Amino acid sequence: MKETYNNKTVIITGASRGIGAKTALKFASCGYNVIINYVNNNHLAQNIQKEIVSKYNVKVTLIKADISKEEEVKKIIDIIKENYSSIDVLINNAGIAIDTTLEDKTVTNFKRILDVNLIGPFLMSKYIGKLMLNQKSGRIVNISSTNGIDSYYPYSMDYDASKAALISLTHNFAIEYAPYIQVNCIAPGWVNTEMNKELDKEYINEESKHILLKRFAEPEEIAESIYFAATAPYLNDTIIKVDGGRI
Ligand SMILES: NC(=O)c1ccc[n+]([C@@H]2O[C@H](COP(=O)([O-])OP(=O)(O)OC[C@H]3O[C@@H](n4cnc5c(N)ncnc54)[C@H](OP(=O)(O)O)[C@@H]3O)[C@@H](O)[C@H]2O)c1
Repeated sequence: MKETYNNKTVIITGASRGIGAKTALKFASCGYNVIINYVNNNHLAQNIQKEIVSKYNVKVTLIKADISKEEEVKKIIDIIKENYSSIDVLINNAGIAIDTTLEDKTVTNFKRILDVNLIGPFLMSKYIGKLMLNQKSGRIVNISSTNGIDSYYPYSMDYDASKAALISLTHNFAIEYAPYIQVNCIAPGWVNTEMNKELDKEYINEESKHILLKRFAEPEEIAESIYFAATAPYLNDTIIKVDGGRI
């Protein structure tokens, strides 16, 4: 059954696959117009667009742009201004990890991770935040990780640092944009997406023993929490761990 079009619009970075794609489907199922950002996988983004359009009566726009580059973020803003009367929710979801031993870590890769996982959300929050401030309303949800809080993993020390910094950014943007824009953060634990495709079964089994639910999350389960963080009325400046309970 088609949902009713509600005129609200969400932009989700990195929504061609994984958590972002399931989040796009969740918002569409609740009547939001969806802007799907991605950087490479045109075909996957089109598949999500087709799935949404076939199921829900909402507008879907695809924007290929590297969110770590200011010029490309400005391009996103131009497209939003041309095509939408408001922008209600920003989900800063796009992220990358390059897991290696310390020996193999390079400054170039460390900087690339910071560019995508931290500078990207900073640029998106700065420019989309401006549009939201003009409207005097908006919601931003940053997707960090439990690796940015207390689940450290030396193979991803660069990624962990970027996710810790994203939590700091969440607090500062919540302060800067109050009382008009509510800014929150979801910190997932392990999730079954392509990001973890290199993990071997033995490692997954070992890690699962430390999760009270005894399994990794599915991306649609994280999407539910992201939707909550974007819509719960009095929620602001909060970091929510979504890790199945970890011991
Ligand atoms: N999976 C986990 O276990 C886990 C746990 C905690 C937190 N997280 C966080 O959750 C978020 C989503 O993770 P995921 O597992 O769903 O990742 P994923 O399956 O690897 O998908 C990453 C998405 O980000 C996009 N992307 C990458 N670089 C980009 C850039 N420079 N500009 C715009 N888009 C870019 C990709 O687009 P293309 O398809 O075009 O490449 C893709 O849509 C990330 O921030 C991740 O750090 C994941």
